[in-house]
Amino acid sequence: MRKLFSLLFVFLLVFPVTACGQSKGEESGTAVDAEIILVTDATESAQETKTVSDAADSGTETGEETNVKAEFDFETKTVMLNSGYEMPINGLGTYSLHGDECINSVKSALSNGVCLIDTASAYGNEEEIGQAVREAIDEGIIQREDIFVTTKIYPGSEMENPEQSIQACLDRLDIGYVDLMLLHHPDSSDVEAYKVMEQFVEEGKIRSIGLSNWYVEELTEFLPQVDTVPALVQNEIHPYYQENDVIPFIQELGIVVQGWYPLGGRGHTGELLGDPVISEIAGAHGVSPAQVILRWNLQKGVVVIPGSSNPDHIRENTELYHFSLTEEEMARIGSLDRGEKHDWY
Ligand SMILES: NC(=O)c1ccc[n+]([C@@H]2O[C@H](COP(=O)([O-])OP(=O)(O)OC[C@H]3O[C@@H](n4cnc5c(N)ncnc54)[C@H](OP(=O)(O)O)[C@@H]3O)[C@@H](O)[C@H]2O)c1
Repeated sequence: MRKLFSLLFVFLLVFPVTACGQSKGEESGTAVDAEIILVTDATESAQETKTVSDAADSGTETGEETNVKAEFDFETKTVMLNSGYEMPINGLGTYSLHGDECINSVKSALSNGVCLIDTASAYGNEEEIGQAVREAIDEGIIQREDIFVTTKIYPGSEMENPEQSIQACLDRLDIGYVDLMLLHHPDSSDVEAYKVMEQFVEEGKIRSIGLSNWYVEELTEFLPQVDTVPALVQNEIHPYYQENDVIPFIQELGIVVQGWYPLGGRGHTGELLGDPVISEIAGAHGVSPAQVILRWNLQKGVVVIPGSSNPDHIRENTELYHFSLTEEEMARIGSLDRGEKHDWY
C-alpha cells in the first residue's frame, strides 16, 4: 500500500549546497511533469515550496527531473539539509537522561566532537540540555554555531497551542535559537502546528523544521497541506526494523532520514548487539557491534542518534569513519529485517 502511494506522487526538490557552518544556501530550481509537483528553493529567510505553475512563472521549470537526495559527507561527517543548514550525521539521543546524568552525557558528547543533540519536550530534559550546551560554550569546549540541537513538540495540548509550546521549548533550552524542531507524532493539529513552526523559522528562532514518526501514507497526506518541505524525518530504524520501503521514499523527496532506537532501544540492545551476524562482522573489522550497526545506518544515508550515559560508549559511537562495510556485509545486515517495531508508534 505504501509503495502504491509512493507511485502516485512525485515531488521535485531542489536545494542548495553550501559550505560548512550551518550557512544558508543559494537558490536553485527546476520542475518535472507529475500529478503533484513541489519545487523547493531555499531562500535567505526560509524553506519554501512552490507549485509547478509558480516554478514556471519564475522561470525555474526545465522539464528535467532533479529530485536531489542529500548525500552524506564522510569527511566533514555532515549532511546539508534542504533548509540550507548543515547537520552532523552522528549525534547523541537523550531520551531517559535527566539531571546531572543528562548534563554530563551531553558535555561528554560535545567534548568528543558529537555536535548533534536530540531532545524533545516530552523527554523533560530540555533545561538540562540547555545548561550543558551553555556550560560547554562557557568552558570553551565548543561554540554555539557548531552545536546542532533538535527538539520536538508533542501531540495534544502542545500541538493545539503551538505558539506557547514552541516558545516554551525555546525558553527551556535558552540557547538562542533551535537548530531543528520536529512535530513528535502525527496529530489532528499537526498541519496548524507545522505552520506555526514555519513562522518561527521566519522569525529566526528556529532554523529548520521536520517531522517524527511520519511514514509514506502520513507524508503523502501531509506534504500537500504545508509550504515548507520538512528538512528531516525521524523514525524508528534498526536492523530488526529497517523501513526499507520508507527510507528511499523520504530521501527521494530531498528529506534527510534520521533513525531513532538505532541500537534497538533500551530492553532490546542485548539481543541486537549480540546478533551473530552483527558480531561476526564486528569481529572482522575489529570494531564493536554498536559501531557496525551505526555504520550500517550511515551507509544507508540514515543519521544516527544513539542514546547513552556512558562516556566510553559515547566516544565509541563517534568512531564510525575509519572502516566501511562491504556490499555483502550491508546485505547480510539487510537480511536481518523482521519488521519488528520496538515501540508502538
Ligand atoms: N522521535 C521519537 O519518537 C523517538 C523515540 C525514541 C527515541 N528517540 C530518540 O532516539 C534516541 C535513541 O534511542 P534510545 O536512546 O532510546 O535507544 P538506543 O540508542 O537504541 O539504545 C540506547 C541504549 O544503548 C546503550 N548503548 C549506547 N551505545 C552503546 C554502545 N556503544 N555499546 C553498548 N551499548 C550502548 C545505552 O546504554 P549506555 O547508557 O550504558 O551506553 C542505552 O541503554 C533517543 O535517545 C531519542 O533522542 C526518538
